[in-house]
Amino acid sequence: MITRTLNSADLAIFGAPPLSARRLPLGQHNFPDWERYEARFRDIFARQYYTNHGPLAQALEARLAEKLQVRHAMCVTTASIALALSAQALGLKGKVLVPGFSFVGTAQSLAWADAEVEFCDVSRETGHLTVETVEPHLRDGVSGILGVNLWGGAADLDGLSQLAAQRQVALYFDSAHAFGCEVSSKISGEVSSKISSEAGREARNRPIGGFGRLEVISFHSANILSATEGAVICTNDDDLAAHVRNIRSNYGMGRPVPVGKTGNGRLSEAQAAIALMNLDDFPALVERNRRLYDTYSNLLDDVPGLRLCAPQGVSVSNYQNVVCEIDARGFGLSRDALLAVLDAENVTAEGARGFGSQCRRADLPNTAHWCESILQLPIGAQVDTALIERIAAVIRAAQRHASQIAGKLGV
Ligand SMILES: Cc1ncc(COP(=O)(O)O)c(C=O)c1O
Repeated sequence: MITRTLNSADLAIFGAPPLSARRLPLGQHNFPDWERYEARFRDIFARQYYTNHGPLAQALEARLAEKLQVRHAMCVTTASIALALSAQALGLKGKVLVPGFSFVGTAQSLAWADAEVEFCDVSRETGHLTVETVEPHLRDGVSGILGVNLWGGAADLDGLSQLAAQRQVALYFDSAHAFGCEVSSKISGEVSSKISSEAGREARNRPIGGFGRLEVISFHSANILSATEGAVICTNDDDLAAHVRNIRSNYGMGRPVPVGKTGNGRLSEAQAAIALMNLDDFPALVERNRRLYDTYSNLLDDVPGLRLCAPQGVSVSNYQNVVCEIDARGFGLSRDALLAVLDAENVTAEGARGFGSQCRRADLPNTAHWCESILQLPIGAQVDTALIERIAAVIRAAQRHASQIAGKLGV
């Protein structure tokens, strides 16, 4: 695929008009058609039933359980709240291992439990936890591992599941970005005590949602399945599900079990309505993402110092994020300088914003590398192929005119 070749004078950083008159956002931001939206909301108004686990929240949970092939899908206000409720429901104590390379909310969810975070480094190749990065941290006093499945990809789920079962620690996942992704796995989705006997099975594609003791998937609108804000906690463990349901609502729900703390993490009918519509659209949304992703891939394939990071560890991705690794020496500009070029064009690109101070820790060298070198580019409802061609043309021009840009930025 050929893109228009831009000169430095065509770049907004040198005074040209920006690539887009309005700011292009980073996330998915999928909106259902107005007619369907209106019809769904007329129903809510007719019923005059806005929340407290109404019919739409129940319908959403049933459809999610079926799609993700789990016994329990429990919707919650946000993934941040869902992770905090999950830590309570799992009864975590002492230390919990968390990858250094993740959004700050992953580790902060443990501040709401009686647990202390211990960061592990991630793989230099994939940016995810592996058995090798976790094992050295499994000492006395560690009660859990909170794995993360980032950006339409996944960690080594079978390897981590087997390790956690052997060492008898609770493994659960922040799969915020992974709705609709699948992993080729030998683990059958049973509770963790059965894992070692399942490990000899044939691998098959299994949806993310059924791994570990539980998984949390975000429905923030930046993700492919939007409830505007929202999340789901998935598990195959009936007892754990009873704990989540009793913690999620101050007045409890489902089979009563004793819990130390309760809160309000319920999903409203309005949120559920939007998620249900986006669920209907899901196959088309993935297909669109894949087309846009392929466009980036074709246009950026041969740019020196830029590597498009394909979704890791999954057999099926939702392609909801476009993540590149910038090698400043090969590209000629640092990741931050390229961010400044794109910002001038009204394009929201991001590095590891919101990933926390552990990004700079010397004992987490691969985390530091990823935090410093990644660049996320816009994909989703607000961009199309033509815009991606213009974004790619700007990136290619930035690489060709790197020294002039460095001079302009004073870097
Ligand atoms: C990896 C990860 N986990 C958790 C969250 C929190 O999700 P929510 O916005 O639904 O609270 C985010 C949000 O960006 C995230 O990136």
